[in-house]
Amino acid sequence: MKHIILITGAGKGIGKAIALDFAKASTTYPDFEPHLILVSRTVSDLEAVAEKCRACGAAAEIVKADISDMAQIDQLVSSTLERYGTIDCLVNNAGVGRFKPFTELTVDDYEDTMGTNLKGTFFLTQKVFPVMEEKKSGHIFFITSIAAETAFKSSALYSMSKFGQKGFIEAVRLYAKTCNVKITNVMPGAVYTPMWGEVTDEMKAIMMMPEDISGPLVNAYLLPQRTSVEELVLRPVSGDLGE
Ligand SMILES: NC(=O)c1ccc[n+]([C@@H]2O[C@H](COP(=O)([O-])OP(=O)(O)OC[C@H]3O[C@@H](n4cnc5c(N)ncnc54)[C@H](OP(=O)(O)O)[C@@H]3O)[C@@H](O)[C@H]2O)c1
Repeated sequence: MKHIILITGAGKGIGKAIALDFAKASTTYPDFEPHLILVSRTVSDLEAVAEKCRACGAAAEIVKADISDMAQIDQLVSSTLERYGTIDCLVNNAGVGRFKPFTELTVDDYEDTMGTNLKGTFFLTQKVFPVMEEKKSGHIFFITSIAAETAFKSSALYSMSKFGQKGFIEAVRLYAKTCNVKITNVMPGAVYTPMWGEVTDEMKAIMMMPEDISGPLVNAYLLPQRTSVEELVLRPVSGDLGE
């Protein structure tokens, strides 16, 4: 069965691993035919990921879009619906982090963080949800963070956006439950991805890897329709960095 799966931030890090794990699942489950729509602002990243997904036998296409821009969100959703008529799974993964002491954060840091993490996630979900509501099925994942529940000194804006995402998710779940739509809040601790920039070997050794997040997410998607994984909390075994 064909599954139209739209993944934001699919060019790097956790989003890239999610795309690859969906693609690999098509080899394990012959009835599962993922059609991946890979979204980010960098075409070269997306092309490389799409090629790897196709090598696993999955259909994959790329869409260059900035989810902080309303016109680009509208275009992304309308072009997907024109081509495929539906969206079965939305993975709200694209996110940015500006990590600095609270007193050094700027208006640009604020707008970048809120534009992607809150505005982009909110309006993309708002545009996609009615499609799932009408057909009474679908699954929306949100990659938030343990910073959606725990504050860290260098993550004032990041935590503000992630706590905000969690509040939004809990509100959306109230709608989703009435129409058979699954909502999963994925809350990872530190994962080794480009978001962190340079990290020391000591840090890398204790961080999770993107596939540690994407594997459980794909498994949650493939569960029977009767079961919804509402939250996935994944932490480095030694605890949060900076504890
Ligand atoms: N890494 C961690 O430790 C960690 C832990 C917990 C939660 N998370 C969350 O997991 C998600 C993925 O993080 P990551 O570590 O994989 O980050 P990453 O390596 O920096 O990748 C982020 C992806 O999102 C895309 N993106 C960013 N802003 C975008 C926008 N406005 N429109 C479209 N695409 C956009 C980026 O591509 P372009 O810049 O090319 O658009 C990139 O493909 C984020 O929501 C993050 O908050 C990460």
